[in-house]
Amino acid sequence: MIRLLKFSLAFLVIVSCNSKEKTTTKVDYPEKTSFSSHNPDLKASMERGKLVYDDLCITCHMADGKGATKVFPPLAQSDYLKNNQEKSIIGIKKGMKGEIVVNGITYNSIMTPLGLSDKEVADVMNYINNSWGNNYGKLITVEEVTKVIKN
Ligand code: HEC
Repeated sequence: MIRLLKFSLAFLVIVSCNSKEKTTTKVDYPEKTSFSSHNPDLKASMERGKLVYDDLCITCHMADGKGATKVFPPLAQSDYLKNNQEKSIIGIKKGMKGEIVVNGITYNSIMTPLGLSDKEVADVMNYINNSWGNNYGKLITVEEVTKVIKN
């Protein structure tokens, strides 16, 4: 009986040590992990892209990315941006005009070319793709931008 007690005590000690170890080695993930926080390249590109945006795009597409209804289309939650990544890249690089439909609203206006380098286009795309609730995740590289623009 005493032997059994000793044994169960030892067992308890082992179990409790074990569980203690588990709690201390537990990895605490933040509640909301966005893709960018796992991808340092994307995060850095977005930070550069924000500077481009605040400098050149904010006047029309606004700080909240919502644009101005029927005049400047939104980038936040824009189905056009989401479904037309290549056309958006070309538009940002070379300008955009003619009829486009964004979230059910037709725009027929002009976005003049802003003189961005391919790298700046990649950075600002990464910023608008992953801000204001947009979460397209994928990193757009300068090589991709150069390729899309040449085609
Ligand atoms: C002078 C105002 C103006 C500026 C500055 C401007 N845009 Fe635009 N943008 C527009 C207009 C107008 C359209 C719609 C063009 C059309 O009707 O064909 C547009 C369309 C777009 C679209 C595609 C439609 C959508 O809403 O998803 C994207 C993406 C975009 N702009 C990104 C940018 C980025 C990034 C910058 C900064 C580098 C920028 N724009 C600067 C006016 C502007």
